[in-house]
Amino acid sequence: MSYNLLKGKRGIVFGALNDMSIAWKVAEKAVAEGAHITLTNTPVAVRMGEVSQLGEKLNAEIIPADATNVDDLKLVFERSMEVLGGKIDFVLHSIGMSPNVRKKRLYDDLDYDLLDKTLDISAVSFHKMLQVAKKLDAISDNGSIVALSYVAAQRTLFGYNDMADAKALLESIARSFGYIYGREHGVRINTISQSPTLTTAGSGVKGMESLMDFANRMSPLGNATADECADYCMVMFSDLTKKVTMQNLFHDGGFSSMGMSLRAMDQYEKSFDEYRNEDGTIQYG
Ligand SMILES: NC(=O)c1ccc[n+]([C@@H]2O[C@H](COP(=O)([O-])OP(=O)(O)OC[C@H]3O[C@@H](n4cnc5c(N)ncnc54)[C@H](O)[C@@H]3O)[C@@H](O)[C@H]2O)c1
Repeated sequence: MSYNLLKGKRGIVFGALNDMSIAWKVAEKAVAEGAHITLTNTPVAVRMGEVSQLGEKLNAEIIPADATNVDDLKLVFERSMEVLGGKIDFVLHSIGMSPNVRKKRLYDDLDYDLLDKTLDISAVSFHKMLQVAKKLDAISDNGSIVALSYVAAQRTLFGYNDMADAKALLESIARSFGYIYGREHGVRINTISQSPTLTTAGSGVKGMESLMDFANRMSPLGNATADECADYCMVMFSDLTKKVTMQNLFHDGGFSSMGMSLRAMDQYEKSFDEYRNEDGTIQYG
């Protein structure tokens, strides 16, 4: 159902890779709500992925860009203003990747060059995006910018690895930049902390299926889906949330406020065996 929440607004959606991507759902809903958008992803993702199908379906230009590259980001904002015909009203940052996770490096055996890349791609890219947009004066007054985060920024969850540090930095950037951009242009900057969701990035997390199952059972409302996350983004991009800024907004069915459920307590008592890796070494779980 559409409410025309974004009628006449111009937006940029970063990070739609395939139809499981949260950004994909956001792009579809934004257009259904009356927005005109551009899409952007890395040149490789644009070449190899399915983004072009989404672009055709939504009549949205696709601007290839590496979000860690300031010149690429400049191009995204300049070209978007050109094709959409004015300043940008909303932006979604839906970008995350850890080369340490990809290479199965554990948190106490990180490769520091790879850590730099994790932080650059998953967090500093948000600062770069905001700084570029502000210098170009590309965002409308009272515009809304959202980045997607995860509760591992506040609480340790096994397997999330250096992405937890990246998310903590991402949320901090939203606050620090939100102060400056809000004061000067009324621009809102928030993060939405989403439930574990089965996407390409999500499936890289160690033990993702068990994590999703645990979160689902632990949350009184169950896990939030990618579609529901997109709904929340619509509200955040709309004029209904003009005074919400510098917040990390949990969209997780209540998970982040739970400590112990009856079911989890019951399960917990059933097994205290130490956890062993494939090679037999004990891993502290
Ligand atoms: N899936 C989950 O469980 C979950 C939970 C909470 C938050 N999030 C966050 O949601 C966001 C979107 O992830 P998703 O789950 O939809 O997975 P996804 O794999 O569909 O999206 C990740 C996107 O990041 C893009 N990307 C990677 N490196 C980039 C770069 N250098 N420049 C530009 N784009 C780059 C990828 O091409 C991809 O489109 C991420 O920030 C992720 O951490 C995901």
